[in-house]
Amino acid sequence: MAAQVETYQFQAETKQLLDIMIHSLYTTKDIFLRELISNASDALDRLGFESLTKPELTAEDSTKEIRLEVDRNARTLTISDSGIGMSRDEVIENIGTIAKSGTRELRERMREGASTSVLQELIGQFGVGFYSAFMVADRVTLLTRRAGEQRATRWESTGDGQYTISDADKPTRGTAITLHLKQVDHDAGIEDYTDKWVLSRIVKRYSDFVNYPINLIDEREEIEPDEEGKPKEGAEPKHVVEEKLLNSMKPLWTRPASEVTESEYTEFYKHISHDFSDPLYHFTARAEGLLEYQALVFFPSTAPYDLFYQGFESGLRLYAKGVLIMEHCPDLLPHYLRFLKGLVDSENLPLNISRQMLQQDRQITQIRKWLTKKSLDALQHLFDKEFEKYLELWHQFGRALKEGAATDFDNKDRLVSLLLFQSSNDPEKLTTLKDYVARMLSEQTDIFYLTGESRTVVENSPHLEAFKEKGYEVLYLVDRVDELLVQSLTEFDGKRLKSVGKGTVNLGNEEERAKVEEELKKEQNESAGLLQSIQKHLDEYLKDVRLTNRLTNSPVCLVSGEMDFSPQMERLLQMGEGGRPKQKRIMELNPRHDIVAKMRERYQKDSADPKLANYAELLYGYALLAEGSDLPDPPRFTSLVAELMTETLAHSQ
Ligand SMILES: Nc1ncnc2c1ncn2[C@@H]1O[C@H](COP(=O)(O)OP(=O)(O)OP(=O)(O)O)[C@@H](O)[C@H]1O
Ligand SMILES: [Mg+2]
Repeated sequence: MAAQVETYQFQAETKQLLDIMIHSLYTTKDIFLRELISNASDALDRLGFESLTKPELTAEDSTKEIRLEVDRNARTLTISDSGIGMSRDEVIENIGTIAKSGTRELRERMREGASTSVLQELIGQFGVGFYSAFMVADRVTLLTRRAGEQRATRWESTGDGQYTISDADKPTRGTAITLHLKQVDHDAGIEDYTDKWVLSRIVKRYSDFVNYPINLIDEREEIEPDEEGKPKEGAEPKHVVEEKLLNSMKPLWTRPASEVTESEYTEFYKHISHDFSDPLYHFTARAEGLLEYQALVFFPSTAPYDLFYQGFESGLRLYAKGVLIMEHCPDLLPHYLRFLKGLVDSENLPLNISRQMLQQDRQITQIRKWLTKKSLDALQHLFDKEFEKYLELWHQFGRALKEGAATDFDNKDRLVSLLLFQSSNDPEKLTTLKDYVARMLSEQTDIFYLTGESRTVVENSPHLEAFKEKGYEVLYLVDRVDELLVQSLTEFDGKRLKSVGKGTVNLGNEEERAKVEEELKKEQNESAGLLQSIQKHLDEYLKDVRLTNRLTNSPVCLVSGEMDFSPQMERLLQMGEGGRPKQKRIMELNPRHDIVAKMRERYQKDSADPKLANYAELLYGYALLAEGSDLPDPPRFTSLVAELMTETLAHSQ
């Protein structure tokens, strides 16, 4: 009885995705083989893990290999492995869903009309290797049987929006992928993938380090040669099967670093990281002594889209004496270094160590300490010797390093010296704290910063006015993680880090400060009535209304108490579970501003003037908008503005 064939549609947008994949994601078509071999190797790794707890999976057949078989007449190439295989559901889930992990993000970007290059970058991060097969094949058939199961599944597609699935027979576990090859087209980069030399060259180039044998099965009809080496006349053709090992299987990290080429490292990186762009940097390290271990670590060139989300799968690979025992071992590095890729190979770990045992293993703790230091050494090297590269890295992973400076107390000083900040000193160039300190004015005692949503908001914030006028540099802390950072980084080089949005300002030398304070006090007394009336109107939002020397052009701003959260921090906290009651702020008024002066006059004429309440509200709204905060009641604010305009227009007629 013929197996029932079911036809499925790929999800929407798949066609566009496939088009990008097939036509522009990879620059070299040969790469399809690397991708399929990499999947086969992953499948063999997974079989290895599972059989640690279920030895029956490999009891009858312990073969672990990858085979390439060609049929020149049918023009097919089959890549098969004796790995874990897939159940029918897994086929639908893994193969029938392109870029499963990032589908939502991708779709959104597509709808927004993102450019091909942006999409390419995203797609590359999501697990689409399998589909590279369609670069060189018109039709792809996948036959797979999961280890431990009897039933096999056949999947087939021409890569045009739908695929078919049916039950099938397969005598052995694992997966076989048959490519019905496109015409050879050298101009388009499509080689003859039934040619053993072509295959052998590609495997050598991209997959030499793969830990399992990659065997090419060369099957042909051959007529036995006569004494002169010519085909014997009249002889029956003989069926010849030759098996040829294509890769050396040597673990890359066990070879001396000087003998491994850059491109071998790059290919290896792509194999283990599932990243399709080249790494930015790598280093190797080895520890010898009572315990022996070595590491090969890569710095990626782009941050994965989900690096800062929960559930990001981090962790280096962990090998025990060259055998992969864990694909993602997060315990080998502190959380903030989760963007690093690579591996650790230990001579002393047992093969069947469990996740729980690992966490308590003293050796792992030791490796983590050691590897953290080595990673920071590498960062320091880039910072000192290859600053351009460091900058690239900073733009991708700087936030993670700030996290480190806030959380890794053992390495805090080293991390702090690697931090870069935006600053009022330069529209683009980032600065270190050390350079900031070197530029500080002689009377300046603190390092000033302002946190906020974006550079534009912070830069135009009224809080900065007096600082700008005095020529004081202010750091713009516009990363979310900065709030976390300034809570633990309160001092650098003996100077306090001080928010210009909190507390009162002290600018200038002792003498100037005393004078300013004196003046403010006097004006404060003169305006006491007005300030109190504003406080009364806005009591719900404010805990104090006072005059300030912080402002030069703006009439008003809001500040927080020294110990309060900044508005940015408050926004973050409110996004968290349950929210938090809003803190009351302090309103600061500029005594030299016309608005304030005129309001004072008005108050003195008639302290019960109902307009004053409206003006107080307008000032409050103005201050909120100026710092990038939301208005508590936008319609109320707009109607006040409209009212004000009507009045002004009426008067000016
Ligand atoms: N030979 C195979 N044996 C078992 N499962 C496989 C095989 N090939 C692919 N798969 C499954 O299909 C999924 C999709 O493969 P695909 O190559 O597209 O993405 P990926 O390997 O997860 O990521 P990458 O983009 O880095 O290749 C795999 O994650 C795996 O679950
Ligand atoms: Mg893959």
